[in-house]
Amino acid sequence: MAPSNLPESTTPAEVSAPYGSGPAAAAQTPSAPGRKPAGRVRIHHLQQAKDNGEHFAMLTAYEQYTAEIFDQAGIEVLLVGDSASNNVFGNETSLPVTVDELLPLTRAVSRAAKRALIVADLPFGSYEVSPQQAVATGVRFLKEGLAHAVKIEGTAYYADTVTAMVQAGIPVMAHIGFTPQSEHSLGGYRVQGRGDDAQRLVADAVALQDAGAFSVLMEMVPAETAAVVDAALRVPTVGIGAGKDTTGQVLVWQDMAGLRGGKMAKFVKQYADLRTTLGDAAAAYAEEVRSGQFPGPEHSF
Ligand code: KIV
Repeated sequence: MAPSNLPESTTPAEVSAPYGSGPAAAAQTPSAPGRKPAGRVRIHHLQQAKDNGEHFAMLTAYEQYTAEIFDQAGIEVLLVGDSASNNVFGNETSLPVTVDELLPLTRAVSRAAKRALIVADLPFGSYEVSPQQAVATGVRFLKEGLAHAVKIEGTAYYADTVTAMVQAGIPVMAHIGFTPQSEHSLGGYRVQGRGDDAQRLVADAVALQDAGAFSVLMEMVPAETAAVVDAALRVPTVGIGAGKDTTGQVLVWQDMAGLRGGKMAKFVKQYADLRTTLGDAAAAYAEEVRSGQFPGPEHSF
């Protein structure tokens, strides 16, 4: 396998593993966490990760600075999620967010990230009506949002939709298991694919893969079921609350970095406490303004 820290001059065709994770890659380069991809991460690199038994990291991003920071940190895939609905726009669920709201966020993330693969969520109501509607919306996300791929939620019922989009040149990630856009049909946030339901999930995943999805994302699925799905698929899987056997992992960044307050889902691990850091910074600023300490002479013209 080629080393992952490839020189900038390497042609795309020679780039076989631009991501910086996975046991095989780590064995080759001791400074694995600091490694950066040499070129744009593309869907075939995610396939290579699966083929090589490696893992990649995916995070949501909704604007310029986090996109730039995560990209430079070596996150391989950035998702402009419809979770912007409840993490940016202040809605309670992901259902109200619109194409017109998500497009500018997608464009900002796409412009800021130089290496990551940018995947954009098609929001609720923008692809369910027909494969033609899905193609039209997907085209907008690639053309106006500058995304590299889109994600849609749903079961094998959406196989024809996936095929139509892929035929139109739109790479599709399929999202199964708990699908937040269907939270009212699913009866709230509930683990999917338990017991006999596991076989349904495998069948959905295989149908969506065979329809042309380049990856299948599973949300809130028992680790054991997710491992069975992953083993049944040729394409890479991504998990959120789906155990450790998926090719990639994804988290909503405000959960991962501790910006959001309130109760966290069991599958969230917080790697920072940005809520406290930002709150402390704002309080210190306010205090210095009130006391006349800010601005000092060094901040004045
Ligand atoms: O929109 C989103 O953040 C997502 C993740 C939960 C995978 O779809």
